[in-house]
Amino acid sequence: MCGIVGYIGSRQASDILLGGLARLEYRGYDSAGVAIMGTGGIDLVRRVGKLHHLTEAVAACPLPGTVGIGHTRWATHGRPNEQNAHPHADCTGRIAVVHNGIIENYLELREELAAAGHVLRSQTDTESVAHLVESYYEGDLVTAVRRTVSRLTGSYALAVVHEAEPDTIVAARNDSPLIIGVGEDETIVASDIPAVLEHTREVLVLEDGDVALVRRDSVTVFGEDGVLREPERIHVEWDLDAAEKGGYETFMLKEINEQPTAIRETLRGRLGSDGIVQLSELAMTEAEIAAIERVFIVACGTSYHAGLVAKTLVEAWARVPVEVDVSSEFRYRQPIVDSGTLVVAITQSGETADTLAGVREARGRGAKAFAITNVVGSRVTRESDGVIYTHAGPEIGVAATKTFTAQIAALTVLALKLAQARGTLGKHDVAHIWDEVSRLPETTEAILGGADGIEACAREYTGVRSSLFLGRGIGVPVAMEGALKLKEISYIHAEAYPAGEMKHGPIALITEEVPVVVVATQGRTYEKVVSNIQEVRARGGRVIAVATHGDDEIARHVEHVLYVPRTSEAISAIPATIPLQLLAYHIATLRGCNVDQPRNLAKSVTVE
Ligand code: AGP
Repeated sequence: MCGIVGYIGSRQASDILLGGLARLEYRGYDSAGVAIMGTGGIDLVRRVGKLHHLTEAVAACPLPGTVGIGHTRWATHGRPNEQNAHPHADCTGRIAVVHNGIIENYLELREELAAAGHVLRSQTDTESVAHLVESYYEGDLVTAVRRTVSRLTGSYALAVVHEAEPDTIVAARNDSPLIIGVGEDETIVASDIPAVLEHTREVLVLEDGDVALVRRDSVTVFGEDGVLREPERIHVEWDLDAAEKGGYETFMLKEINEQPTAIRETLRGRLGSDGIVQLSELAMTEAEIAAIERVFIVACGTSYHAGLVAKTLVEAWARVPVEVDVSSEFRYRQPIVDSGTLVVAITQSGETADTLAGVREARGRGAKAFAITNVVGSRVTRESDGVIYTHAGPEIGVAATKTFTAQIAALTVLALKLAQARGTLGKHDVAHIWDEVSRLPETTEAILGGADGIEACAREYTGVRSSLFLGRGIGVPVAMEGALKLKEISYIHAEAYPAGEMKHGPIALITEEVPVVVVATQGRTYEKVVSNIQEVRARGGRVIAVATHGDDEIARHVEHVLYVPRTSEAISAIPATIPLQLLAYHIATLRGCNVDQPRNLAKSVTVE
């Protein structure tokens, strides 16, 4: 997720662009740049690192001009460095482009452009867009951009400038947000409302497939069919703080609601039209994958819970034994790993000291280590044999939410890849599973859209001091994640157990004051879970159940039911997690806790 801004008006563009990028830094902050239409042509300045590096560079060497585009990057392709920073130019330097999204077919476009003599200098998907516009430009930038986007597969929000049309910005969007602020004799293109709010509250909303011709006093929008259309115009009531959180009260709630997009972007392009799972990052032949004797997953906290979900999927589909360990234990217990072991390090920040140490330990013992992370260029990417990225965008809230479900999406792809390569799942099986996996964004949207009752449920439990979370099978890591969410943001003690373990001790804790949350979605052990619920009730315990829509039976046994859509058991971890995130969120909020920055916690634990 990146932030793009374009300005055209009568004021100095660099001031507006840098101010707008500052409001979008939550969308990405590993490099930034601007391209300003100067008297001698386009002046392009880029800096790696946080925005202030760019601001200082522009202050030291001002860029006069009233038209320009800017970008703050959250890298998806190509490390965070100046060469990969946006804006990107064509061969002539007369065209500049900024982009937010993922161009799936960028490799083939790069090959086509290089074969036609274009010289591409970065490792990004975006640079191919600048050269495509160059190749299609015949005197009309809108036409060149329309022809360009017709070649793109994937998501994009673009702003393009050309020296030959100095009073124009052309914008285009597909699957990535893009809005246009309409001011007094000035127009601002941006990824999100915060970038325009101090200049105007009048906003045009572009739709997928739109291409917009932007001038200081006019905006002309062409729909996907090339026909002129009137975009929706809204008057924004938000204040700036609300706008940065997308209108949500906190970053955590915004990020909980960004999960459909995070899952969609992480799954994007992962099953080819030929039915083959696309995971080139693994860089292993089918024979090498078939030779894997064991998978070892190392991670901490929420990422460890994602690893436990992956264990269930990899063992069920690929029939490979999987061991999951917290990094701080793995690194000290002389782990039995060797060249026959595939080690997977899961870390959304890519900076967790214990997990980095685990990677070093594994590789030191001859194993290949792959990272699953949300941060391009993070330490773990430089210390692993390969990287599979989640595409959740920056996660500001300390409590992991969208990165967790994006990790499960990425791990689901990995499990399918291993199974397909080892022949334990045929193309038909993979296609059948993928049919459900690919609908997870919509399933998650449905849960988020129907979650109104969770706050009312939360109100009954804000005063408790302790709680238990239970589940069976894939429901155990879900219960563990639900318990972690509750304890880390509400400070209520919460402990997760396999439901079958209740009678081996934890049941002694049951009273009316210790609510029990049970993951009771449909699955092979559903009846057993219901029995466990009855054991709790028989001892005066109160139960909140996560259950499958249409299960009226469960409602007879519990105080509250948090319903989720029916899915197969293997795909149920993400749906079952969402209500538990929201339950923890509402309890913590009602208790007056700072959910974005809970006490004693850091977003990235870079110390041991
Ligand atoms: C999760 O909500 C916590 N913030 C914490 O447990 C976190 O998952 C853990 O520190 C691991 O972080 P990582 O994924 O960046 O390695």
